[in-house]
Amino acid sequence: MKFFIDTANLQDIQEAQEMGVLDGVTTNPSLMAKEGITGKDNILKHYLNICNIVDGDVSAEVVSTDYDGMVREGEELAALHPQIVVKLPMIGDGIKACKYFSLKGIKTNVTLVFSPGQALLAAKAGATYVSPFLGRLDDISTDGMHLIEEIREIYDNYEYKTQILSASIRHTMHIVNCAKAGSDVMTGPLSAIKGLLKHPLTDIGLNQFIEDAKRMKL
Ligand code: G3P
Repeated sequence: MKFFIDTANLQDIQEAQEMGVLDGVTTNPSLMAKEGITGKDNILKHYLNICNIVDGDVSAEVVSTDYDGMVREGEELAALHPQIVVKLPMIGDGIKACKYFSLKGIKTNVTLVFSPGQALLAAKAGATYVSPFLGRLDDISTDGMHLIEEIREIYDNYEYKTQILSASIRHTMHIVNCAKAGSDVMTGPLSAIKGLLKHPLTDIGLNQFIEDAKRMKL
């Protein structure tokens, strides 16, 4: 399973990259705003900075909601850097724009997906990635993991090439369960990725080894 980091924070991206486990980055307008990035030039420069830190795909989201606007924005984003993936909302015009970009060979990520039917449409439109929002479904007492399993089943039935990019990941168990369900990618915060490291028996065992190593008089 590929690990993407879901942030626009350059320090977090750098730290995950240095761990050696990072395959890409996803951003959205909320994450960009959180970093205080304003103005078109700064936003485009920020995407380039992210591309220069990681080797993999970097999702940059359009903010238009009409087809022409999404195509215009997406083409500008895609021209920025070969690692850029155009992120489009799961609405009618977004699907239409997805088809347009897929015919042009430009990578896409269809976001704000909350049902198997939406994921089916994204695959039919040739999306590179589909982003079901796991955590936000859990937030409203709906089983987010079940959606990932349903999408996996549908995509496997027809061998759709669209990659399931499980998003809105909040903690380590989301990551582990996504891996069990066969999600192609997960995108989450640095805290969830680093959380995978933790086990008290590892800490206890290491402390014992360090103590015993002293007796080896290296
Ligand atoms: O990038 C989209 C998604 O991962 C958002 O996550 O935590 O805001 O629901 P969250």
